[in-house]
Amino acid sequence: MPGLGASLPRDTKKQSQEQPVTDPVSISFHATDIDAIAAAEGTIAVLIGEEGKLDQAARRVNRLTKGALARLVESEGWGKKKPGEGAVLDWPAGVTAEKIVAIHLPRGASVTEARKAGATLAKSLGKAGTLVLAGNARRVADVALGTALMAYEFDAQRTKKAEPKGEVRIMAKAPEEAEAAARPLLAAAEGVFFTRDLVNEPANVLTTEEFATRLKDMERLGLKVEVLEEADMEKLGMNALLAVGMASVMPSKVVVMQWNGGGDEAPLALVGKGVVFDTGGISLKPAAGMEDMTMDMGGAGVVSGVMRTLALRKAKANVVGLVGLVENTIAGNAQRPGDVVHSMKGDTIEVINTDAEGRLVLCDVMWYAQDRFKPAGMIDLATLTGAMIIALGHENAGVFSNDDAFCGKLLKAAEAEGEGVWRLPMGQAYDDQLKSRIADMKNVGGRPAGSITAAQFLKRFVKDETPWCHIDIAGVALRTSDSATAPKGATGWGVLALDRLVKDAYEG
Ligand code: BES
Ligand code: MN
Ligand code: ZN
Repeated sequence: MPGLGASLPRDTKKQSQEQPVTDPVSISFHATDIDAIAAAEGTIAVLIGEEGKLDQAARRVNRLTKGALARLVESEGWGKKKPGEGAVLDWPAGVTAEKIVAIHLPRGASVTEARKAGATLAKSLGKAGTLVLAGNARRVADVALGTALMAYEFDAQRTKKAEPKGEVRIMAKAPEEAEAAARPLLAAAEGVFFTRDLVNEPANVLTTEEFATRLKDMERLGLKVEVLEEADMEKLGMNALLAVGMASVMPSKVVVMQWNGGGDEAPLALVGKGVVFDTGGISLKPAAGMEDMTMDMGGAGVVSGVMRTLALRKAKANVVGLVGLVENTIAGNAQRPGDVVHSMKGDTIEVINTDAEGRLVLCDVMWYAQDRFKPAGMIDLATLTGAMIIALGHENAGVFSNDDAFCGKLLKAAEAEGEGVWRLPMGQAYDDQLKSRIADMKNVGGRPAGSITAAQFLKRFVKDETPWCHIDIAGVALRTSDSATAPKGATGWGVLALDRLVKDAYEG
């Protein structure tokens, strides 16, 4: 059976115009052949179920290594292994492989535990390849996804590239079944990688122009991709967005990506904040940590990764993704604190703080999305407020909504994918904090509940009939330490959750 990576529409990607994207490790599924174990090079991984019982393939490994595997699983240390954890035997005698990884995966393992098992495996992948003995373990496709997600390495800006990982060959009892289950999951892994690459790229590489080019490139996957230039936005009246990008030498852009895999029903709209760099503008940010503001396009990155996934797995749903791409910087023509801008909706906004720019970008793109597509639902994603990190840290994104049922579906999808998300309240008293002395509203509401007043600002640009969720991913888009299935750096948080939401709520 060919590697899954190879069977996805990669052939259409490998053309001269191809845009850079980190490819997941190639993973393929095979029937179990215990005679292949002794000579397998690189790494051998053994998935071991309850009570350390060894199946036929594991018994072969044990015999070849003169009982080393049995000694390991009978040890006190093994008894303390949580589901998904493992132990490594280096340079085992009796086999060609350089290491054997034993991973604890009980039969009743959850999706999260199976992915953790895969992530454990990812840390020991051999450059000469990896043979995974899965036997009749369940959730093998999720093990594969965990491996793919954790094996990510961003090396686009290094001259010395990461060592390529050899192919991962999974031997399972029902390889066809496992492969069918893994196919859409590995499409999602490609979407996550696309998001991570975008978020990891520095702002001098991922300019608004380069971002738009990488999205335009996805037309080869069957997406319809349009780029609105500044002149188009001026005609539409997107003055709030344009004011943010005004001082930059990079032209502001809105990119519209349509995936029409469904019937003639109204689409789900995904809207992303794509600030390729946020200096704060004239309300300048402090120097310490400012380099992290290269990730301020994280919302746009997630929207782009979801659209890529939907196209790769040919989702039977209509979804439109819109991203507002701008740089928030300083020059003589930068917008000033105190300026008043006219949004596309028509409402006027007093810009008290030029560092509260994300909401100025989103309000115009969200209005445009509703005006043009009359979506069945709208979700915006943004690295919107530092206050979000104070509230929830790096474990949960914050969600805000005007519709309990819609929000419930999103929470359920995120929960199922192990992507933490927590709903926060909204209300009139918070909205009152946005009252302006001279305009219809101001763009900040003061320090108390900064994430909520940001959401209240956005809500003013949501039509009553549009079910809407706002997800503030400021804390989860980028991490300084590994999470369960993401190495430190850009996480791609949200791609899996939104892909699942589409699957569960829009593909019937
Ligand atoms: N991009 C930032 C929010 C952010 C901060 C994201 C840290 C990720 C990590 C956003 O544009 C911003 O500057 N928000 C201000 C809003 C304030 C001026 C009301 C903030 O959080 O300080
Ligand atoms: Mn800002
Ligand atoms: Zn920002």
